[in-house]
Amino acid sequence: MSKTLTQLEILTELQPVAEQNLNRHLSMAKEWHPHDYVPWDEGRNFAAMGGADWAPEQSRLSEIARVAMITNLLTEDNLPSYHREIAQNFSQDGAWGTWVGRWTAEENRHGIVLRDYLVVTRGVDPVALEQARMTHMTTGANAPSDWGGFLVNVAYVTFQELATRVSHRNTGRVCQDPIADRMLQRIAADENLHMIFYRNLCGAALDLVPDQAMEAITRIVTNFVMPGATMPNFRRNGVLMAKHGIYDLRQHLEEVVQPVLKKWEIFERTDFTARGEQARDELAAFIEKLEGDVVKFEEQRDRLLAREAARLQPA
Ligand SMILES: [Fe+2]
Ligand SMILES: [Fe+2]
Repeated sequence: MSKTLTQLEILTELQPVAEQNLNRHLSMAKEWHPHDYVPWDEGRNFAAMGGADWAPEQSRLSEIARVAMITNLLTEDNLPSYHREIAQNFSQDGAWGTWVGRWTAEENRHGIVLRDYLVVTRGVDPVALEQARMTHMTTGANAPSDWGGFLVNVAYVTFQELATRVSHRNTGRVCQDPIADRMLQRIAADENLHMIFYRNLCGAALDLVPDQAMEAITRIVTNFVMPGATMPNFRRNGVLMAKHGIYDLRQHLEEVVQPVLKKWEIFERTDFTARGEQARDELAAFIEKLEGDVVKFEEQRDRLLAREAARLQPA
């Protein structure tokens, strides 16, 4: 019989694993400074200090690069919401508490460096950016009410950290600026380390309470939404980013969902009871459907891009 533990019992049982992974993280994480990633000599005053305000022609970023940068930055800006979720669902004690604080401090760097870069290089309209930040942070990133608890939370952040890693890395590519690319690679490396912490903890939870963890993983994968889903224009911008391969369905399946499931050996495990088996079957059916959706999405995208290219050809 597989045992059922409360969230508090799971946190207590996993405390040594949290400590081990916190120490691993601290030994791997490199100290870096946002100011080293920003071309300050490109900066100049805005009108309030005798200079000129932002104008669209000052930006060297393409439309897609601007949209991706803003989406990634607003996502990072919502850190207080994510901190609240993590702090509520993880323990405040010992290694858990240290992780929550450390993770929050590292994440804050991402928003700092992205904003400094965009304002100094005049990559996006700073007034529109500030308005969007106010709206987005006022709304917050509210997780669905049935997503409470450690297991669901740790499963979500495992996939979410990897998703933001992919999104940052591909945003660096479309900026066509080696400085932006370097900055986004630096952020993406942080997200990867965060992912490993959560993935290891969720993996340990699978060993401890296989059925409960499996149910949490299925719930998250089958309902996954990007962390920035509550921001203004998210749907439109998400479609644009998918169209340009910054974060699309194939990347979600092949670079985010599948590698994590493989690491957890979900489809090789023999420690589930009927409950866990049922959740795993549901997950398998979902993945199969997703594989079909990827092909459909790419066919549609190919047709759309071909039509656009044809329209741009001289008659
Ligand atoms: Fe981040
Ligand atoms: Fe992260």
